[in-house]
Amino acid sequence: MTGTFITAGPFEGQKPGTSGLRKKTAQFSAPHYLECFIQATLTAVGAKGKTLVLGGDGRAFGREAAAIILRMAAANGVAKVIVGRDALLSTPAASHLIRLHGADGGIILSASHNPGGMDGDFGVKYNIANGGPAPESVTAEIHAETLRLSGYRISATAAPDLTQEGSHRLDDMLVEVVNPVADYAALMESLFDFKAIRAMFAAGFTMKFDAMCAVTGPYAVEILERRLGAAPGTVMNATPLPDFGGMHPDPNPTWAADLYGLLMGPDAPDFGAASDGDGDRNMVVGRGIYVNPSDSLAVLAANAHLAPGYAGGLKGIARSMPTSTAADRVAKALGIEAHETPTGWKFFGNLLDAGRITLCGEESFGTGSDHVREKDGLWAVLLWLNILAVTGRSVRELMEDHWQRFGRTFYSRHDYEALPVAPAEAVMAGLRQSLSGLPGTVVGDTSVTLADDFAYHDPVDGSESRSQGLRVVFANGARFVLRLSGTGTEGATLRLYLEQHSDSPADFARDPQEALSAVIAAADQLAKITSLTGRPAADVVT
Ligand code: G6P
Ligand code: ZN
Repeated sequence: MTGTFITAGPFEGQKPGTSGLRKKTAQFSAPHYLECFIQATLTAVGAKGKTLVLGGDGRAFGREAAAIILRMAAANGVAKVIVGRDALLSTPAASHLIRLHGADGGIILSASHNPGGMDGDFGVKYNIANGGPAPESVTAEIHAETLRLSGYRISATAAPDLTQEGSHRLDDMLVEVVNPVADYAALMESLFDFKAIRAMFAAGFTMKFDAMCAVTGPYAVEILERRLGAAPGTVMNATPLPDFGGMHPDPNPTWAADLYGLLMGPDAPDFGAASDGDGDRNMVVGRGIYVNPSDSLAVLAANAHLAPGYAGGLKGIARSMPTSTAADRVAKALGIEAHETPTGWKFFGNLLDAGRITLCGEESFGTGSDHVREKDGLWAVLLWLNILAVTGRSVRELMEDHWQRFGRTFYSRHDYEALPVAPAEAVMAGLRQSLSGLPGTVVGDTSVTLADDFAYHDPVDGSESRSQGLRVVFANGARFVLRLSGTGTEGATLRLYLEQHSDSPADFARDPQEALSAVIAAADQLAKITSLTGRPAADVVT
């Protein structure tokens, strides 16, 4: 080991959550805070002699953090770091680079869809050699180390200039600064029918992609505008900014309201899509029609064979438990495995590595496949474009075709954001306590058939994950799920997931909130959300 040992820490509260450690930028950039977490990570994973990938979504403090991490990596004996130019890498691109180079892991600097800037959030996530988020066994070891350490090791040598692609040295460590887009764009070109998509754009197909001033801007401009010939300006908010231009880079109808409004208005293009801070989420909107993420997964699964990368068919499909069951119906029709996992992309890793599934997705605007080990926003957009190009159908027609074939699974998520912790926990505790007595209870004109606290048994490594969300299923096929968000940084966010399936074509045009009104009322009756939180309605409805 080289460099200087700086005595500092330990800091309380450096426990990685659903997706790495997320804190206010001010806290992360406070003296020694980032450094202690990075030291814990490097120690826990045994970084000496290893090759790591490093990059992030361009948010405030990212470049400074990358420079610190490089100096610490050198002092901790890391052999090589592959870093995106300007410290930029989307999360899926980082996952791909880890796999492409056979790296031992990677450090991603992002708080995903949380706002950035010095008043916003910052985050650090460690990914393992398969390119996916570290499993709980690794994050638990990192956390234990954050509480054990007494300081960190850092080189006195300045980090190389990350604006320059090429090979640099930092003491004994090699730093390879790479184009953040090139390898990822080549991967996309290998999976999708670019020729068909190019022809569709050439024939006048119009689209808007909202990069929300976050990391996907350069990726989307290169792929959509340069390689596929979409009109210049197709990508909105294309330049990554440290504070995301003040936007909340979460692609949903509330936070991507401009794009959403455009697609619902008189001047709507044929297709709209948005991605989040670090490029792993996606929202898809057709002209005058919103595609909820659960339906998106189901439609992509039913049509994936139209893309060259999936022409051989799918091995299986997985979805997180709160995601609607629409994809299960597709799996059944295709005669392939369907898996239901807890919320969090890391739970798909084993199924993907074991070749049990090809596609997976979550209601939280995440869709992906076995091409990387993260969800992938642009990948989902390109698969949609590929399907639109090959079928010649509009988004609305594709959705209507899908409902005719599989029925429509009405779905919505109601979020109660930044609640004080006590009432949020009271809602969860109250429902949890009543679960065992619920089966058989009549609510409205149906009755409860199943009520449990979801537990997952991983079929690949046999691990058990308990208390992953409260689930209540009704005899008429309706279902609601209640869980607390694991990614927020302010108070508690309660998420209520609502679903109702119908096979009756007369229902297909119904407004989802109206079609779900009975299960919305049932959830409030059983979980007492309004009375315990004092909130008459949800803050965000997706
Ligand atoms: C991150 C993870 C997703 C997960 C989501 C849940 O985005 O990458 O896999 O679905 O968090 O967020 P929540 O706020 O509901 O815990
Ligand atoms: Zn993200």
